[in-house]
Amino acid sequence: MELQGKRIVLGVTGGIAAYKAAELVRLFVKQGAEVQVAMTEAATRFVTPVTFQALSGKPVFTDQWDARMANNMAHIDLSRSADCILVAPATADFMARVAQGLADDLLTTLVLARDCPLLVAPAMNRQMWENPATRRNAAQLQADGVALLGPACGEQACGETGAGRMLEPEEILEELIAFLTPKRLAGKRVLMTAGPTFEAIDPVRGITNLSSGKMGYAVARAARQAGAEVTLISGPVSLPAPQGVARVDVRSALDMHQAVMTRVGQADIFIAVAAVADYRVANPAEQKLKKDEGGPPAIELVENPDILAEVASLPAGPFCVGFAAESRNLEQYAQAKRRKKNIPLIAGNLIQEGFGGEDNRLVLFDDNGVHPLAPAPKPVLARQLIKHIAAITTGKN
Ligand code: C5P
Repeated sequence: MELQGKRIVLGVTGGIAAYKAAELVRLFVKQGAEVQVAMTEAATRFVTPVTFQALSGKPVFTDQWDARMANNMAHIDLSRSADCILVAPATADFMARVAQGLADDLLTTLVLARDCPLLVAPAMNRQMWENPATRRNAAQLQADGVALLGPACGEQACGETGAGRMLEPEEILEELIAFLTPKRLAGKRVLMTAGPTFEAIDPVRGITNLSSGKMGYAVARAARQAGAEVTLISGPVSLPAPQGVARVDVRSALDMHQAVMTRVGQADIFIAVAAVADYRVANPAEQKLKKDEGGPPAIELVENPDILAEVASLPAGPFCVGFAAESRNLEQYAQAKRRKKNIPLIAGNLIQEGFGGEDNRLVLFDDNGVHPLAPAPKPVLARQLIKHIAAITTGKN
């Protein structure tokens, strides 16, 4: 429920992408938001207000002169106490009218009378988007503090391909959540590792572990939502990169080590979530090992560099956060790791409570003591961890 308690006014204007706005309402409501829909007259030609009413559970407003508002102040009342107005899709015409400060229908009047942030997700034919008038209007909106979400490039309803497509509803949801998250890590550069590593035995076999990358990816997403610039060095996982996060794919611990060490100079915070293999194969075979050649092969292992410990020992290095996945004695082992690697904060979890799954239970260990977090889905824990890191590094709560 990432939008729990949020009030969103969703403006829908008359473009073919209006049908995707119905999905947006569903996604917002599912995340706990209260959604009030306002449509332009043109939008009702594409999708009827009944659809939005059913999905939002609230009457839809289209008309400035709607008598349902007792004081006839729909343009003021609808956005009062809203956390934001989001207009998706926003047509070229709508953007032009808002850029000019026009208030010639309910939605533009509501936008002009708002006291909350405005986000618009443009959707139009690529030539309309590229037209100098639209460029000018988009620039004006941005100069006025309006957040533009997209547009994306791709196939268009008119059969052409180019910039102008509305972002997909899931992408808009992601942007909206990020927009509404307090920017506790604004201006901070966060470098992270996540996922397992894969240590080759031969060209097709290797030593790895069951880390899914879910916790690390959730932390990367939460850090980005908190306003940080995030680089995620990822071992092999089957997860999509969180929106707005720069991802660098690596395979082995040595690759991960190199990818981290070449970037760590620019980082303010380093969060090591990866389950890095402690050992690698000393001499991986160049050709595939054959079963019938001299019995089971002896595999010699050598120790991998401890990336976190190395980063933590850098003079003037970043603020370091580690993870400790243990199968028992969590506090004892996690505290020992914190001291050994000399890091200010470590997040401990029991493997049986989190590894590979959707939920986890974290206990944070820092200079101020032990802070157990309630069991929760990984995205929730990731946000709590980021809040904790922000409180220590910026001194703000
Ligand atoms: O010592 P252990 O592997 O249990 O420590 C776990 C923490 O150290 C994690 O934060 C992990 O990402 C990091 N680590 C590392 N490089 C290694 C081993 C662990 O960065 N070679």
